[in-house]
This record gives sequence, C-alpha cells and structure tokens, in this order.
Amino acid sequence: MPPQLGFLSILLAWTTGAWATDHNLPFMEYLDADRVVCLKWGFDELQGDITFQLTVNSTGWVGFGLSPQGNMVRADIVMGGYGPAGSYFADYYAEGNAMPLKDEEQSYNLLSMIENDGQTIMTFQRSIKTCDEKDFHITPQPIKLIYAYGVTDDIGYHRSRRGTKEVNLLNYMPRSNPPDAKYFTLKVENITVPSKKTYYHCKVMQLPDLPKKHHIYLVEPDIEHLDIVHHMLLYHCPSFVNEPYDKQCYMGDVGDACFGVVASWGVGGGAYELPENTGIPIGGESSDRFYRLEIHYNNPQEKEGITDSSGLRLYYTDKLRQHDVGVLTTGVLPVGQMQYGIPPRATQFHSYGICNTSLFSQLVNPIPDLQVFSVLLHTHLAGRKVRVGHFRNGKQIDFLGVNENYDFDMQEIVNLGSIKTVKPGDEIIVECTYNTEDRTKDTLMGLSTTDEMCLAFLFYYPAVDITSCTSRPNTLLLSTTTAQPDEYQSLMNNLPQIQYISDARSNYSVYRDGMVREVMKTPAAVCKSTNTASRPCSSWMLKAGGIILSLLLVALM
Ligand SMILES: *[C@@H]1O[C@H](CO)[C@@H](O)[C@H](O)[C@H]1NC(C)=O
Ligand SMILES: *[C@@H]1O[C@H](CO)[C@@H](O)[C@H](O)[C@H]1NC(C)=O
Ligand SMILES: *[C@@H]1O[C@H](CO)[C@@H](O)[C@H](O)[C@H]1NC(C)=O
Ligand SMILES: *[C@@H]1O[C@H](CO)[C@@H](O)[C@H](O)[C@H]1NC(C)=O
Repeated sequence: MPPQLGFLSILLAWTTGAWATDHNLPFMEYLDADRVVCLKWGFDELQGDITFQLTVNSTGWVGFGLSPQGNMVRADIVMGGYGPAGSYFADYYAEGNAMPLKDEEQSYNLLSMIENDGQTIMTFQRSIKTCDEKDFHITPQPIKLIYAYGVTDDIGYHRSRRGTKEVNLLNYMPRSNPPDAKYFTLKVENITVPSKKTYYHCKVMQLPDLPKKHHIYLVEPDIEHLDIVHHMLLYHCPSFVNEPYDKQCYMGDVGDACFGVVASWGVGGGAYELPENTGIPIGGESSDRFYRLEIHYNNPQEKEGITDSSGLRLYYTDKLRQHDVGVLTTGVLPVGQMQYGIPPRATQFHSYGICNTSLFSQLVNPIPDLQVFSVLLHTHLAGRKVRVGHFRNGKQIDFLGVNENYDFDMQEIVNLGSIKTVKPGDEIIVECTYNTEDRTKDTLMGLSTTDEMCLAFLFYYPAVDITSCTSRPNTLLLSTTTAQPDEYQSLMNNLPQIQYISDARSNYSVYRDGMVREVMKTPAAVCKSTNTASRPCSSWMLKAGGIILSLLLVALM
C-alpha cells in the first residue's frame, strides 16, 4: 500500500459509508455468503449512468461481471486492483470459461481504486445502455452478477474465490431478515366486498400500544384476494379522529380527514423495506393516534359474495434509526369542488399538479433539505405516463420519478437510483398523461376507478410536518366556451394553479397563482459510449484531494 494512502484510511470509514452518507450509491448487497465481497451501486436516470463500488477483502486483483448465465460464458467483466505500479483496471469480455480478453471498446470508467486495511475498493461507472455489443444489456430485471478475486495482483485463475448472485440493479428492493423480527398486522376482517367495480373500504384503528417510540422498517402486504385488492394505503389521523370504525370510505366520516400517508402497497408490488438509516415513527408520544387503512377493491366483473381479510404487515424495531421517514403527497388535488375534466377522445392529455416548497416555511420553520429515496406514482385507468419534474431556481434539474409506460395493474414503490435532495424553495411538478380515446364523456378528477387521479407519493427523510402539497388549475377563470382539445390543453396549462398544503393536523393552507412550468423531455434511451481515455489515477486523486480539503476545513472550524 502506498504510504499516502495510510493517511486516508481514517477518512474511508465515512467516504465508503452506507446508505446515509453516499447518496450516489444507495444500494448494497454482499455477493457471497461470507461477506467478503460487497457491491454498492446507484444510477442516474438523467445522465443514464450506473456506478458500482466493489469492496473485496483482498489486496490482490478483483473482478466483477454481468453474466447471461451466471458463469463466465459471454460475461461482461471488469478487473482491476492496486499493484506495485499503481492502479490497473480494464473492461473484459469472456467467450467461455477461460481467461477473459480485454474489450476493444472500453466501456467502463474507473472512478477510484483504493487499497486499505486489507481491502480493495474499486469504484467504476458505465452507461446503463452502452453501444458495445459485448457489454451486457442492463434492464430492470434480475441480473446474474459474478465476481472473482485473487490474492496477488497477477490476474489469473481464481480457484474457488468466485461466485454469482442474482440482483435487480435498476429496480432494487432490499430485503433483510432480521432474526428477532417483530411485526403487527393491520387488516380488515371478513368484510363483504360489494359487487361494484370500485369499492374503497376504510378501517380507522389504533396501533398496538407502544409506550416508547419505535421505527417501522419493512412493510409487507398480507392479501387474501390478489385478484381484487388493488392498492392499500395507511394514513395517520389528526388528533380529532378518536373513534375506530370499519366501513366504506369517503362517506363524510371524520376519518376522511386522515390524509398523511404512512405506508402503501400497490398491485404488482411486494414487500417494501426502508433505507437502513430510516424508519417510520410509531408509538411514544403519538401512541394514542389513530390510523386509517384504506383498501381499494377493483372488482371489474362485479363478483358477488366475496368476504375479504387483507392488510399490511408492519415490521418494527426499538433500535431507532437515524431519521424519521415522511411521505409527501404531490400532484393534482384529488377531491374538491372545482372539478375539471379530461376531455374524451384525447390521445395524450396532460394534467399537472405543482408543489412549490417555498410555501412550506409558512407552516414549518426551518425546513431541512428533504432526501427523497422512493416514489409511488398513481393514476387510474386512463393514465399512460407519469413524470415528476424537480425544479430549482425556475429550471428543471432532475426527475423524482418517471414512468413512461404506466400500468394501472403494476403500481409499486420504486427506489430511485440515487437519493435526491429537495432544497427549500425547489418546485415539484407532477405531469400525468392520459388517453381517453375510448371514452365519450369528460373524465373527472376523483376517487372512483373511472375517475382519474394524478399523484406521486414521495418517500423522504427527515420527516417534516407537511403531508400533502398538491394543486388544481383555477377553472373558475376558464371561459365556458367550448374549446378544441389542443386549445383546451393549452388553456388548462396556462391557468393559474391553486395550491393546497396540509399538515398532520389536516388543516389546509391555500395559495393562489402558482404556474405550471414545462417539464423537459425524458432523456432518450439511446446508447452512449463511455469516454475511456482511462485515467486510473488522476480521477481518484482529485477525489482524495477534495476529501483532504474538506478535512482541513473541518479542522479549521
Ligand atoms: C473485511 O475487512 C474489513 C476491514 O478490514 C473488516 O472489518 C471485515 O470484518 C472483513 N470481513 C471479513 C468477512 O473478513
Ligand atoms: C372470519 O371468518 C373466518 C372463517 O369463517 C373465521 O374463522 C374468523 O373467526 C372470522 N373472523 C372474524 C374477526 O370474524
Ligand atoms: C391547524 O390546526 C391546529 C390544531 O388543531 C390549530 O391550532 C391551528 O390554528 C390550525 N391552523 C390553521 C391555519 O387553521
Ligand atoms: C414558487 O414560489 C416562489 C416564491 O413565492 C415564486 O417566486 C415562484 O414563482 C413560485 N413558483 C411557481 C412555479 O409558481
């Protein structure tokens, strides 16, 4: 190990830290049972890059690959290490179970190579979609990852120091199985599902009594009828909701005011685990609080006589994590008097909901940076696309969620490829694209499956006392003359938005005169070749320089 690296070793503890500290590498998996080979990764939807960090307890060469079959046959491989002559790294391709050959086109960029404390830490990046036939095509499907390493820097046969693991890189759902897992289940019991296409059932209840604060870290669906349970949401209630009930939703009951989303499940989704430094707070001071479980039953065949017991299983721990998780509901205000319709026979009609976070400070002060890590997008049957634009100083800087092929029957919480920071003053614009070609009447915004919704639930930390930030165009300003569809679309886009912000006590603040900004085109998934004038040392040196500089600053303070 070169001497100057020794100096860095104290710093590595946090530069290579887990979830919390490295927003660009939010995901982590050990690739072997002995926990010698650890992969962290993250990706940037806008740039189209994926970054990997492979940490192996070895000072020899290390290798990582993406493989069609889980072995070396036609695998896309990178190998590197830190040797006597400095760092080495290259992109390889294996024809079969033999020494891989260097790729003519080097599609991976080395970002840093560090050897420290018996470990090699190799950080590298490629385009998600490269132009090289020999590179593995990364899709949001489980992919067989392979690894191997040696005990020296002479790349050679790995013997038993190799393995494979299947991981979905682009749609990753971490899943731990803590040995002492405690959970409770919130569910409806033997309710009769009416023979109606759409039915929302609400159960207002208390959680088991926990005198001390706990954190929920895993939410699992517990579903009896997979064919009709469409989505479930758990909301917390304001303090004036203090009676349990179990009946149809949105009938003017007090629990209709419970609108702070705590947990959710959508059809097609599985269990959902939170980042390891975060948890949903329950118990303690708020232990007398009521919660509302809302189950949306979708019964298109109008089947009769179904009794259902479904709900959510919530795993919790008394080992509190660093941050409380919050869920911010953004998009178009789903209920309210001011109706506006999506016109019939439209191939692509866009609706917009805005959230101007500069208004938050009027309810909560000070407002911290919100770290958004997951999103659940929600429309009804006419929804075809949902995009969540993230704006700063009037310019779009990113997306907080994009689904170009929205499917009502596939609504799951999606982890973002990196943790995205929403700063006070940033704006969030949710754009929903609808197709109403098969409809003859206006489609209204509302709760029924045949109405429409346009929502994005943003999961973030640290939690602030704001539960929803939605808007509606001020249609009172719309002249009643019927406009042509295109004209109507642009009229709607230019109407001032009325914005509604609500807190956990469920009181709304209303603001006028917001406006819809244009959301940029989704970056096209064209292939990109990575620039590989491979600069093995300089790039990490730069990074190390930055670390040293910030350490100096800390020392000066
Ligand atoms: C790998 O190395 C790190 C740092 O030296 C050490 O903390 C960890 O216990 C090692 N893991 C194994 C499985 O040997
Ligand atoms: C629900 O129905 C099942 C089967 O009939 C029965 O065993 C169970 O006790 C019922 N649960 C409640 C809460 O009524
Ligand atoms: C919001 O609710 C709280 C508690 O119920 C109340 O004290 C406060 O005045 C309300 N604020 C507004 C703006 O209505
Ligand atoms: C958000 O609020 C700020 C401050 O009030 C304002 O300058 C800005 O125009 C608003 N943005 C939108 C999109 O309405």
